[in-house]
Amino acid sequence: MQRAEPESTGGPPLAEALRFAAFAWQRFHGGMQLGRALELASAQPGPRHARALAAAQDIAYTATRQRALLDALIAELAAKAPPPPVAALLAVSLAQLIAARHAAYTVVDQAVTAARADRRTAAAAGFINGTLRTFQRRADELLERLRRDDVVRFNAPRWWIDHLRQQYPQSWRPLLEAQGEPPPLVVRVNARRLSTEAYLQRLADAQIEAMRVGVHAVWLRQPLPVESIPGFLQGEVSVQDAGSQLAVQWLDVRAGQRVLDACAAPGGKTGYLAESTTGPIDAIELDPRRAARIASNLTRLGLDDGRVQVHVADAALPHTWPTRTTYQRILLDGPCSASGIVRRHPDIPWLRRPADVAQLATIQARLLDALWPLLAPTGRLLYIVCSLFNEEAGEQATRFLERHEDARTAGLPGQLAGAVQLLPTPLARAAPWSGGTSAPSLHDGFFYALFEKR
Ligand SMILES: C[S@@+](CC[C@H](N)C(=O)[O-])C[C@H]1O[C@@H](n2cnc3c(N)ncnc32)[C@H](O)[C@@H]1O
Repeated sequence: MQRAEPESTGGPPLAEALRFAAFAWQRFHGGMQLGRALELASAQPGPRHARALAAAQDIAYTATRQRALLDALIAELAAKAPPPPVAALLAVSLAQLIAARHAAYTVVDQAVTAARADRRTAAAAGFINGTLRTFQRRADELLERLRRDDVVRFNAPRWWIDHLRQQYPQSWRPLLEAQGEPPPLVVRVNARRLSTEAYLQRLADAQIEAMRVGVHAVWLRQPLPVESIPGFLQGEVSVQDAGSQLAVQWLDVRAGQRVLDACAAPGGKTGYLAESTTGPIDAIELDPRRAARIASNLTRLGLDDGRVQVHVADAALPHTWPTRTTYQRILLDGPCSASGIVRRHPDIPWLRRPADVAQLATIQARLLDALWPLLAPTGRLLYIVCSLFNEEAGEQATRFLERHEDARTAGLPGQLAGAVQLLPTPLARAAPWSGGTSAPSLHDGFFYALFEKR
């Protein structure tokens, strides 16, 4: 979210935060990405208080993690569906009552204040007050009953649950439970600047509890705003899941090799590639706004020396790019359902439609086919999706091999095969990384396939 003016009063601006969160929630409920909706909330006219915006983000994410429950509660508690702005304020306030981070009377009082402060909700202040109080009286019974439904329990649409159940008949429940967990804050240590051991020592000196979960991956046990992560602003670390870090480790770029990072924004993997290689890198990204974030990441890392060229272009149309060359290494981390990173983006299951999975698989196949001719003989292409769905993962890899006789899978380091599906690690199972070529001990859900050109 954008920075706003610091507030002048000392008290917690809960009413204002509820109002911003409700604004974002209403748009998310209408089909907008939650991050985008929060950006819009922060751009609203009128006084904006930095603490209220930060709190709104937290409130909106807390509510999104229980969207199905909140919808079901409002359906139970309201005689008829409230207008969207009222339903939104009610939803985020109910989520705060359930989270119990503030005294219940504070939440109710601040929700009513928030309602009165906006002409779209002012007339419903009494209704909001009454509904929240009714919920307080009936909370135990309502929560126990509504949570018996899998849609509420796992906070995902029915089709999403069914799809996972069909593809993971043994493990769909723990998978869905992991989706509901708080996202672990994992950073990548910039090996150009310091060792992972030295960074762990720095955290210990600062009394920040941490665990090594991969070669360069460190899990900070308590969430922190990015600017407060030691070494972040100086480019010594970047926020990146340990499973995502495998992309660069498994691509195994040799000295001086030319690399293509297709679908590169916001540049998490581009930055790691630049930290750990010496040859030229072309980063292709379709969305200009997102492409700008690659450049700012490289600047923060002190790697904006021109070795990485960022091009705003369609990765599926290489003949339109300003570069004409072949690559020894290609990373394709294309658009996908993002079903492997729901604990970071709890809005995802609600924004996807069942038909999206097949459509995304078609786009991924098109990207794979377009990029394969750019790979030099004996070169390697690493295909990645942060997805759990087989259409985008194993099935995609199999079909690709069927279409390309000159392709074969190459062994992934430490893995038995050339393709692997990583499932999100439940937080309770995270353990210290065991070193060598072992996979990270805490990661999100990713599929990897490493193809080699004969
Ligand atoms: C999964 S994200 C990539 C994440 C990135 N590799 C990282 O590690 O930070 C996929 C990206 O592909 C971009 N994209 C989608 N279709 C594309 C296309 N046809 N050509 C280039 N980029 C595309 C999206 O805008 C998005 O930024």
